[in-house]
Amino acid sequence: MAGAFPDRVLEGGFGQVLDLGQAQFLALVDVGAAGQDEVAVAVIWTLRATRIEVPGQMSVVGLDDQPVARWFDPTTVAQSPSRIGREAGPASRPTAGAPTAVGLKRIRAARRGLCLDSAPRRGGCRMTTGANTVGDVFSAGAEEFHLWSGALWDPVGVATAAVAAPAAGESVLDACCGAGASALPAARAVGPAGRVDAVDLAAGLLSIGERRAREEGLDHLRFHRHDVTSWPVTGDGYDLVQCALGVFFFPDMDRDAAALTRKVRPGGRFVVTVWEKGALDGWQSALREAVLTERDLPHRPQRDQLARIDTADTLAAWLQDLGGSVPRVVRRRFDTPLSPETAWVLATGSGTRGMLTGLSPAAVARVRTEFTARITAAGVTDLDVRVLIGTARFTG
Ligand SMILES: C[S@@+](CC[C@H](N)C(=O)[O-])C[C@H]1O[C@@H](n2cnc3c(N)ncnc32)[C@H](O)[C@@H]1O
Repeated sequence: MAGAFPDRVLEGGFGQVLDLGQAQFLALVDVGAAGQDEVAVAVIWTLRATRIEVPGQMSVVGLDDQPVARWFDPTTVAQSPSRIGREAGPASRPTAGAPTAVGLKRIRAARRGLCLDSAPRRGGCRMTTGANTVGDVFSAGAEEFHLWSGALWDPVGVATAAVAAPAAGESVLDACCGAGASALPAARAVGPAGRVDAVDLAAGLLSIGERRAREEGLDHLRFHRHDVTSWPVTGDGYDLVQCALGVFFFPDMDRDAAALTRKVRPGGRFVVTVWEKGALDGWQSALREAVLTERDLPHRPQRDQLARIDTADTLAAWLQDLGGSVPRVVRRRFDTPLSPETAWVLATGSGTRGMLTGLSPAAVARVRTEFTARITAAGVTDLDVRVLIGTARFTG
């Protein structure tokens, strides 16, 4: 294909395709493109977000039958690594201690406790996330999380940083940074004379954030794996502490957010972004109902915590109770199209992944079928993305 249409070949990987604007992407790609499955998935994602039907209006072919292809069903060409290795002969064998790309993928999967095989192993492979802490849940779903960076996490993060307005040379703590949605724009704003510490528990997300920072040459943005509530603070504290979509995950939101405010220097800002009441509703209730067909759902304290600060008034009052002065809350909306496939990716790439923990592959498949039926029947074709961004000054 490259020889036939050299001017139509878009070079780059998964990240580059996702990072392209939709208009830019469509101007470049007007033939069914082929590449690694991860790239094919990014292509399909962008086309569907533009409401171009795949495969109705355009076909996409992937090349290596990777597990991620299961979520998007592109046509893909299965390649057996062991067969390729056997046929290539001894010269191609990896040296001891140098795992192949496929091996690395399996090692990472094993570490995350996930089964990546299309066909479950004998005895089954459960949807498990190790210790099942919030960091483990987000880490296990890191690839799926990042598929939503362009349409969800990044716009919310950019809006958070815009309200927080970090100035050149300032120091910033980005609490619960995920893959860097708000830390990256903050780092661009403070520039090399400033500093951003981005802290999260999810190793899988931190490595995506690190890669993104490296690609932009943002050396003053550092990612750290740590519980942010016990992150040590040096000197007077940070000019700005920002936390997008994270505070309600804390074990004790009041106590732990108060700990964050103590990392703000006297007169500095504390900025918190939360889902507005009713946001994500169609998607979330379809998922809960689908999971309930398989299991009881344990009480999730983060829902109660969020419910205490999900209006402009309650968020402002909470910031004041924490000791903040001049609290201000703004509302932002970023609704985005949703298909059954992308809805499922979000289910497995955010905190809701925890609802699937411990289910067998067959049970997860039934939940997915049920979920698809429910969002289709309810006519949910958009994700309702409404957030509140609250800011206050603290004396430190
Ligand atoms: C919904 S994600 C938001 C990520 C990012 N701020 C964004 O908007 O894309 C919530 C994040 O909070 C992190 N988190 C929750 N509790 C944490 C804690 N105590 N310390 C550090 N990170 C935490 C999770 O690991 C997860 O990455």
